[in-house]
Amino acid sequence: PSEKYLYKYKGMYFHPEYVTPELIDSLEEFEIRVSDVFLITYPKSGTVWTQNILSLIFHEGHRDETEDIHVIDRVPWLEYNLNKLDYANRPSPRLFTTHLPYYLVPRGLKNKRVKVIYVARNPKDVLVSYFHFSKIVITLEEIPDFNIFMERFLAGKVHSSSWLDHVRGWYDHRDEFSILFLTYEEMIKDLRGVVLRICDFLGKELSEDDLDTVVKKATFENMKEDPRANYETMPGGLLEKDKGHFLRKGTVGDWKNTMTVAQNERFEEVFKEKMKDLPFNYVWNN
Ligand code: PPS
Repeated sequence: PSEKYLYKYKGMYFHPEYVTPELIDSLEEFEIRVSDVFLITYPKSGTVWTQNILSLIFHEGHRDETEDIHVIDRVPWLEYNLNKLDYANRPSPRLFTTHLPYYLVPRGLKNKRVKVIYVARNPKDVLVSYFHFSKIVITLEEIPDFNIFMERFLAGKVHSSSWLDHVRGWYDHRDEFSILFLTYEEMIKDLRGVVLRICDFLGKELSEDDLDTVVKKATFENMKEDPRANYETMPGGLLEKDKGHFLRKGTVGDWKNTMTVAQNERFEEVFKEKMKDLPFNYVWNN
């Protein structure tokens, strides 16, 4: 891959424009509070969806629309501080999002047993979503040929490196953290149930009405129309909107409309055996 778009540091591919090696090193010492909540994902796995859910759970002003604040400012990215927020002086509980692998997150996540929500998605759908995403983000290398993009994805030569290493890393090291594992597929199947599980995990009690509001505002249709949630007003005009949307399809199994039989076989040849003992079994069959 071109160095203009991607460089490797500590086993992980980053974007040179957004993340420096110094920043990654400094994050290890990032001051963590026991009350912090971290949303952790591999790209295209349901990050912004869950970001929005967390924002809705924690902020009444988001639920009742009395405050006009973008989810990027509610649940900001740890490694991409896009709006230059003062993380050290944010009120508790602070909510953060990150794509970092388990071994690069702040040390305090382990030491303080900070609550982590990890969302995984069928890697075939992640691949397809990633492929389309690389066409609409101006700072990503556009690879028009799906086959070539798939080979990069399988080799982990994309931002955040290998899907398999990311998920496996977090899963294998789960006992060192306090993690709730979720899947995109169960969010599609039972959004209300997932919101309840998140609330239970974080010790948040919402009234039935508030719960209804969270679920309603977190549907694909509503998020697509919500400028605070759909990332179409990203800082720096990162998206080329005429080429597509961040909230693209929001479905399970779109890989079947994109991958040929041969591509699916190739994908399984590389990934299937290694995924076998990951616990998200029902996800792979969609
Ligand atoms: S990123 O760039 O890593 O933050 O991307 P991420 O948010 O993880 O993934 C984007 C995909 O999530 C879909 N999405 C949703 N699906 C269902 N319901 C809701 N509310 C929702 N919000 C986002 C989004 O459409 C991307 O998936 P695809 O398959 O491309 O549509």
